Amino acid sequence: MNILHICANPKPTEESVSKQLAAAFFAKLIELKPDAELVNVNLYDEKPPFYSYELFRRCWYPVFDENYEPTKVEEMAMNYAGKQAEMFNAADVIVLTMPMWNFSVPAIMKAWMDQVIAPGLTFSISKEDGIKPLHKVKSVVLLVASGSIYKEGDARDALTSQVRSAFGFIGIDDIEIVWAEGQNPLFFDNSEENKAMAIDAASEIAEDIAEMDFSESEAE
Ligand SMILES: Cc1cc2nc3c(=O)[nH]c(=O)nc-3n(C[C@H](O)[C@H](O)[C@H](O)COP(=O)(O)O)c2cc1C
Repeated sequence: MNILHICANPKPTEESVSKQLAAAFFAKLIELKPDAELVNVNLYDEKPPFYSYELFRRCWYPVFDENYEPTKVEEMAMNYAGKQAEMFNAADVIVLTMPMWNFSVPAIMKAWMDQVIAPGLTFSISKEDGIKPLHKVKSVVLLVASGSIYKEGDARDALTSQVRSAFGFIGIDDIEIVWAEGQNPLFFDNSEENKAMAIDAASEIAEDIAEMDFSESEAE
């Protein structure tokens, strides 16, 4: 089992609830699957560039123009995206660790998605075949913490809908969410209890992932 962990949180673990969820998730997963291959990317150490015109040309021009030849600058614009997409395509499971910021994913996480969710990298696109995955990712595990509490389908929550839509677009519909809500102790007396429940849930999701069968993709 190959796991790619993308973490978008600049805080140390002791100050970050979402990172504590990740710690619980990986402790359980490694206990149950000691052979699991884990690749960790902390986006604050490997910062994605913002999307550029050169990257747009390099990724999208071949879709519409079979004679397109990238310039050197356009080739170079794909350095970060290409490396990250390689890790993405080698993964069976992707774990995303992040806080909710301004009702959505942190900008650095969105910048990473803009880099890797691109034609020729993680999916192919054509009029005949539509969108086809170039990856073998079966599940995305989303580990998130927020100050407030959001009911399911709450219009203010642009985070889970963005993650579901972006990964659904490239054929990943299994999105397992562990959400430590109500983490602002000024407004919620039970923030510690909410955190403990989410940590237990992270451990349970790790048990489910450990039971998944990836033998088909390993044989490839
Ligand atoms: C810049 C910023 C924006 C935030 N925006 C929201 C928000 O829109 N909704 C919310 O419920 N909490 C918001 N919070 C609170 C965090 O989501 C909360 O502190 C959470 O525990 C952060 O996760 P972490 O502990 O893993 O860092 C925000 C915090 C910061 C620093």
